[in-house]
Amino acid sequence: MSFNLQEILRRDLNEIVPYEAPRVGDGVIKLDANENPFEFPEDTIKETCERLKSFTRYPDPMSAELIAALSEYTGVPKEGIMAGNGSDELILNILLVFGNGGHIIIPAPTFSMYRIHSLIAGAKPVEVSRGSKFEVDVSAVVEACKSYQARAVIVCSPNNPTANSTSVRDVQFLLEQSGALIIIDEAYIEFGGESCLKLLNRYPNLVILRTFSKAFGLAGLRVGYLLGNPEVVKEIHRVKQPFNLNIFSQLAARTVLSNYGEFKLMVDKILAMRDNLIEEMSVIKNVTVFPSEANFILFRTQLKGREVFEGLLKKGVLIRNVHAPGIEDCLRVTVGRDNENKLFLDSLQAVLNGDG
Ligand SMILES: Cc1ncc(COP(=O)(O)O)c(C=O)c1O
Repeated sequence: MSFNLQEILRRDLNEIVPYEAPRVGDGVIKLDANENPFEFPEDTIKETCERLKSFTRYPDPMSAELIAALSEYTGVPKEGIMAGNGSDELILNILLVFGNGGHIIIPAPTFSMYRIHSLIAGAKPVEVSRGSKFEVDVSAVVEACKSYQARAVIVCSPNNPTANSTSVRDVQFLLEQSGALIIIDEAYIEFGGESCLKLLNRYPNLVILRTFSKAFGLAGLRVGYLLGNPEVVKEIHRVKQPFNLNIFSQLAARTVLSNYGEFKLMVDKILAMRDNLIEEMSVIKNVTVFPSEANFILFRTQLKGREVFEGLLKKGVLIRNVHAPGIEDCLRVTVGRDNENKLFLDSLQAVLNGDG
């Protein structure tokens, strides 16, 4: 019998486009992925390396020491915490356990991986439009939960890419009315918005996702964690890769937590730079800037998003074109260091003046 690739393929994956990060040369300023723009503090790198004794053995599959440090940091019992290879891995794991075959409600526009991970997990993503200020339409979400008998809802707060947050009151409404697992992605919570942490011990259907990739500068080491009811977390462990988090990443995340003060200072600096950047962008003619509770800014100009994106790239500034329903021709810029923000502002001005 001959082998036929097309016959064994999962056709439901056809609509997924493989993820490709833009390839850029050395001189390009990266303001496209919402990372911490500062160098990781040298003393913190040194501390992490000094803690590294060996890597000939597999890492601790349960990331026990990191979980203990996270338990202290969040106040959540250890059984209610799971660490992952970036929060991306955890999103997929949750959907593999709870989503398969069912519907997942996603208030959109939002982080594109929710839809993609739903499809990979064999779940059916249903997008419910956010309102005119990008707020979650909680009544529409509850309606959708009822009509699809949804398994889960994923709310990003503060939301990527619109940069607004969802109130704890609205989340509480979803927790009480939806009958679904409510997943709150707090990837940017260190920059703004109100955490749902205080709801955890009252609602067994709440799961909170966090990451070390944004405020804590570990994007390249891939560390995320989730907080939830121990019974829910126990179920998610069924699909966890045994050694998902490597030794160095576990150590680095622990070192971040023991040097929290240094990162808090960086967050404060980023917030001050963000407010400056918003102020400066707002006075550029034909630029509409949306409010931000995160370390990035959503904006729109009179030009097509693609034109602005390409014009900036030619000048050595990489941002993100996030054009999608509800945010047509919008772009997202990550707050960088002062010199990077200045180059972005000068380049944006030039592109809009037609000397792009
Ligand atoms: C809202 C949101 N959640 C999760 C992630 C992924 O984070 P991680 O690096 O922990 O996989 C991102 C990254 O951009 C994000 O914006």
